[in-house]
Amino acid sequence: GSSIPEVAPAPSPAKAPACGGDGRRVSTVLIIIAMQTEALPLVNKFQLSEDTDGSLFPKGVPWVRYHGKYKELDINLVWPGKDSVLGVDSVGTVSASLVTYASVQALKPDLIINAGTAGGFKAKGACVGDVYLASDVAFHDRRIPIPVFDLYGIGARRTLSTPNLVKELNLKVGKLSTGDSLDMSPQDEAAILANDATIKDMEGAAVSYVAGLLSVPAIFVKAVTDIVDGEKPTPEEFLQNLIAVTAALDQAVSQVIDFLSGKCLSEL
Ligand code: ADE
Repeated sequence: GSSIPEVAPAPSPAKAPACGGDGRRVSTVLIIIAMQTEALPLVNKFQLSEDTDGSLFPKGVPWVRYHGKYKELDINLVWPGKDSVLGVDSVGTVSASLVTYASVQALKPDLIINAGTAGGFKAKGACVGDVYLASDVAFHDRRIPIPVFDLYGIGARRTLSTPNLVKELNLKVGKLSTGDSLDMSPQDEAAILANDATIKDMEGAAVSYVAGLLSVPAIFVKAVTDIVDGEKPTPEEFLQNLIAVTAALDQAVSQVIDFLSGKCLSEL
């Protein structure tokens, strides 16, 4: 016989049972956050380290990736950074689309989480400090009154359905409308009403569009800093509440991350 002794095969590491449905377990998560104030508490909480290698994104862009391991997850948090000329956070749909595209290409995430603040409509039940999970997203400032182009402009999409996540974390659910302005023109207002939106932000529908292009499921966690149909001027109310509401946002995102760890997409 052979002189090679027969040895028992090394025990394979314990593996969780395969996922049913789409067959995917959430392993790599991509969190897209537009504002530094919203991002840094999460970077600290999950002890993420800033990517210093500089090969992920093109040279010279302000985009910043933080990453680390948490439980069974590889967490990547990408912040579009400060505008290179003006030094303010690169908010809005253009930067959000670009960083989402580049990050998905580089990191191949199983799930995208777009987290941030939003304006809320009290007529739809929103209060300052509420955290919403968006069921649907659409644009309110892309008016193209030509058949079918009108629908393209609105760009309405369902988000990934996560009934167990909603139940477990007791999140509010509502439709999100996205535009590139913090204020709201009468035309925006009519479109937001037509979108049946409870909350309005400046990135969600753009992140969703790119996620759809690249077939990555996405969820949207948005905390209300200001009441759009209230009495106070939006910029003041937004800045006044930003810090306190960011704490609520980051707590919710942390809970989402905890819930995700070890789960299949189909279990969310
Ligand atoms: N983010 C926070 N408040 C907002 C508002 N009122 N409109 C758009 N984005 C927001």
